[in-house]
Amino acid sequence: MAYNLLKGKKGIIFGALDENSIAWKTAQHCYAEGAEIVLTNAPIALRMGTINKLAEEINAPVIPADVTNADDITNLFVKAKEHFGGGVDFILHSIGMSINVRKNIPYTENNYDFTHKGLDISAISLHRVLQIAMKEDAINEWGSVVALTYIAGQRVFPSYNDMADGKAMLESIARNFGYFYGVEKKVRINTVSQSPTRTTAGSGVKGFDGFISYAEKMSPLGNASADQCADYCVSLFSDLTKMVTMQNLFHDGGFSFTGVSQAVIEQMEKE
Ligand code: NAI
Repeated sequence: MAYNLLKGKKGIIFGALDENSIAWKTAQHCYAEGAEIVLTNAPIALRMGTINKLAEEINAPVIPADVTNADDITNLFVKAKEHFGGGVDFILHSIGMSINVRKNIPYTENNYDFTHKGLDISAISLHRVLQIAMKEDAINEWGSVVALTYIAGQRVFPSYNDMADGKAMLESIARNFGYFYGVEKKVRINTVSQSPTRTTAGSGVKGFDGFISYAEKMSPLGNASADQCADYCVSLFSDLTKMVTMQNLFHDGGFSFTGVSQAVIEQMEKE
């Protein structure tokens, strides 16, 4: 059900690769709530993914941008401003990648070239996007930026590998940039810490099925789906959450504050 929560708002959504992507669902939900969208992803992802299908469905232009490339990001903001006839009201950063994870290199043996690349794509990119947005004055007053993160940025999940460090950094950048952008233009910046979700990025993590079923058993409400995450992002882009900024917001069915659940104890007793 739609409530017109984003009527008249304009936003840029990074990271819709295919129908499973959290960004894909968020774009659909924002559109349903009345927003106008510009979609963007890395050129290679545009070739491999199915973003044009989404673009047609929600009537959004697709502007390629590799988040590690400042010229690409500048071009994205310039073109988005042309398209909308002004700045944007919200941005979703839904981007993550680790070559160490992809190549199954254990955390203690990480290759630092891969680490640098992973941090650049998964964390520093948020800083780059915000820095260029500020320079181009591309986000309207009271705009809202959300980046997606995972609890491994705060607690140890061994197979999450160097993505955990990336998420810790991402959350820190949201907090710090949130201060400066708040003072400058009342722009709010938050991270949403989502339950494990079956997507291309998610499934790359070793033992992902175990992750999902453990989290499902641990969370009083069960795991949050990608569609539910999209709803939460809509609320954060809406005017109903104007004073929320610099937060890491758990969207995980209660997982993060559960020490142990009865379901997990019963599972352990079976052993
Ligand atoms: P996904 O694989 O659908 O999305 C990841 C996106 O990052 C892709 O669209 C990919 O093209 C994009 N990307 C990678 N390198 C890029 C680059 N250089 N420039 C621009 N874009 C680039 O997977 P998902 O799960 O939807 O991931 C979205 C976000 O949600 C990520 O930050 C991820 O870490 C986070 N997240 C995912 C969870 C999960 O279990 N799937 C749980 C918690 C957070």
